[in-house]
Amino acid sequence: SVSIKCQSTEPKTNGNILDNASNLLTNFLSGGSLGSMPTAEGSVSDLFGKPLFLSLYDWFLEHGGIYKLAFGPKAFVVISDPIIARHVLRENAFSYDKGVLAEILEPIMGKGLIPADLDTWKLRRRAITPAFHKLYLEAMVKVFSDCSEKMILKSEKLIREKETSSGEDTIELDLEAEFSSLALDIIGLSVFNYDFGSVTKESPVIKAVYGTLFEAEHRSTFYFPYWNFPPARWIVPRQRKFQSDLKIINDCLDGLIQNAKETRQETDVEKLQERDYTNLKDASLLRFLVDMRGVDIDDRQLRDDLMTMLIAGHETTAAVLTWAVFLLSQNPEKIRKAQAEIDAVLGQGPPTYESMKKLEYIRLIVVEVLRLFPQPPLLIRRTLKPETLPGGHKGEKEGHKVPKGTDIFISVYNLHRSPYFWDNPHDFEPERFLRTKESNGIEGWAGFDPSRSPGALYPNEIIADFAFLPFGGGPRKCIGDQFALMESTVALAMLFQKFDVELRGTPESVELVSGATIHAKNGMWCKLKRRSK
Ligand code: HEM
Repeated sequence: SVSIKCQSTEPKTNGNILDNASNLLTNFLSGGSLGSMPTAEGSVSDLFGKPLFLSLYDWFLEHGGIYKLAFGPKAFVVISDPIIARHVLRENAFSYDKGVLAEILEPIMGKGLIPADLDTWKLRRRAITPAFHKLYLEAMVKVFSDCSEKMILKSEKLIREKETSSGEDTIELDLEAEFSSLALDIIGLSVFNYDFGSVTKESPVIKAVYGTLFEAEHRSTFYFPYWNFPPARWIVPRQRKFQSDLKIINDCLDGLIQNAKETRQETDVEKLQERDYTNLKDASLLRFLVDMRGVDIDDRQLRDDLMTMLIAGHETTAAVLTWAVFLLSQNPEKIRKAQAEIDAVLGQGPPTYESMKKLEYIRLIVVEVLRLFPQPPLLIRRTLKPETLPGGHKGEKEGHKVPKGTDIFISVYNLHRSPYFWDNPHDFEPERFLRTKESNGIEGWAGFDPSRSPGALYPNEIIADFAFLPFGGGPRKCIGDQFALMESTVALAMLFQKFDVELRGTPESVELVSGATIHAKNGMWCKLKRRSK
C-alpha cells in the first residue's frame, strides 16, 4: 500500500543550489511547507476501508487539534480545535475560499453562494439573507407539516394494505429514501414554489435531481477531477448522463424564473418582509428575490442561487432525519420522552410555529443528532495568502505558518466528538445542551454556555464557542439554518406522533458512507407501526 507520511519539520537549507532543489522536491513530496505541525501517518488503504472523516478522527486522537496529512504530493491541514476553527471561519474568514469544494461544485452550482468567489458571494449573500425573514420562516412551518402529512398518509396506507393482505400491522420502509423525497418536496415548494410531489410519484425532473445529487456525492469522494477535461463530458457515460440531468433541471428552473419575472411586482425589501405570508399564493424565495427592488440579477445568477439551495437544503436535512431515527431507535426511553412531549404539546394536531417553540425536547434531539452526525462532516477551505493559524486549546502559544494555497479540512465531526469538550462524546444525550459547563480554564476558548445565546430556539456555535458547528460559523455560515432546524423538528414530531419506529436490523449492520453528507450505505430500513393508544 502507498504510505501517507510527511515530514514534521521544515527542511533545512544552507543556500546550496542543489540542496535547495532537493529541499523543494522534499517539500513537494511531503505535501508542501507546513512548519512543525504534527503529521498523520497511515496508508492509503485506510482511506478506502472506511469514510475519510472516520480516519481523520483516529488521527485527531493521536496527533491533536491540528495536523497535516499528505497523499503523495498533496497535503491537507486537518483542524479539530475550536480556537483554530474560529480563526479560519470567523476571525479571518476572507483569507480563505472554498478550494477543492468550489472546484467540485462549480459545474453544478455555478456562482451560487457555496462555491462563489468572494466578490459574487458578498453581493448575493446580501441579497438573499433578507429573504429568510421571520414571517417567511413562520409560514414555512405549514409547508413542512403539509409535506410531512403526505409522507404519514402514505405510510398509513401501506400499513392498511399490509393488514388487509397479511393481517400484519408493521411495514418495513427505507426511511432514508422517504426523508429524501420529503426534503425534496419541501425545498421545491419553499424555494421556488414548485411541487416535485416526490413523496408520491416519480418524474423526469425528480430523477434528474437525484442523478445530479448522486454525481455531486461521487465527485466529493473522487480525488481526481476528471470531469474538468472537456472530452470526459462526451466520453464518460456517467458524465453524459450528468450533463443531460443538469439540462433537465436547468430548463425547469429557467421556466420558473421566467414565470416569476413575467409577474414581477417590484417592491422594497421592508415591504416584502411584511407581506401576509400565510395567505400568499406564492411565498417562495424566488418570488422574494425577483420582486426585490434595486437588485437586478441576471437569470443565470438566479438559477445558480436556486440550484445551490436545492442541493444544500435537501440532502443535509434528509440526513438529519435519517440519523435521528437511527439514534432514537436505539434509545426507546428517549422515544417515549419525545412522544410524551408531542402528545402534551400537539395532541393529534399538526405543529404550528407557536407550538413548535414548546417542543423543546424534539429540538434538542435535532441538535444532538447534528452533533453526532454533522452534515457535512468536514468543512473545506484553501488559503488565499500565507497565513498563521493560532495555537490550539491546549494553550500552545506558537501558531502554525501555512503557505498560500494550503488545503484545509475543518473536521466538524472531530470537534463534535472531541473528548476535550464533551462528556461521553459518543453518547446520544439531547439533555446535554441544557447543562452549563465551565470553560476548564482553556486559554482563548470561552467554553460552553447556553446563556450566551439568549432567545435562540436552538443551541448554536456561539454557546460552545466553535466546539459545536452544525451550520459552520462566521460570515459563510449556513443561510438556511433556522429553516432546516424547524423543518427537522416538524417532520420528526409528526413521525413519532403517529408511529413507533424500530431499526430492521442491528445498529452495527448500518454501514456509513460519506460524500457531502453521511449516508447509510444500504438505506435506513425501519419497521413502522401505528402507535398503540
Ligand atoms: C452553508 C449545513 C440546510 C443553504 C452551510 C454550511 C453548513 C451547512 C455546515 C457551511 C459550509 C461551509 O462553511 O463551508 C447545513 C445543514 C442543513 C442545511 C446541516 C440541514 C440540516 C440548508 C438549507 C438551505 C441551506 C435548508 C437553503 C434553503 C446553504 C447555503 C450555504 C450553506 C446557501 C452557503 C452559505 C454561504 O456561503 O454564504 N450549510 N445546511 N442549507 N447552506 Fe446549509
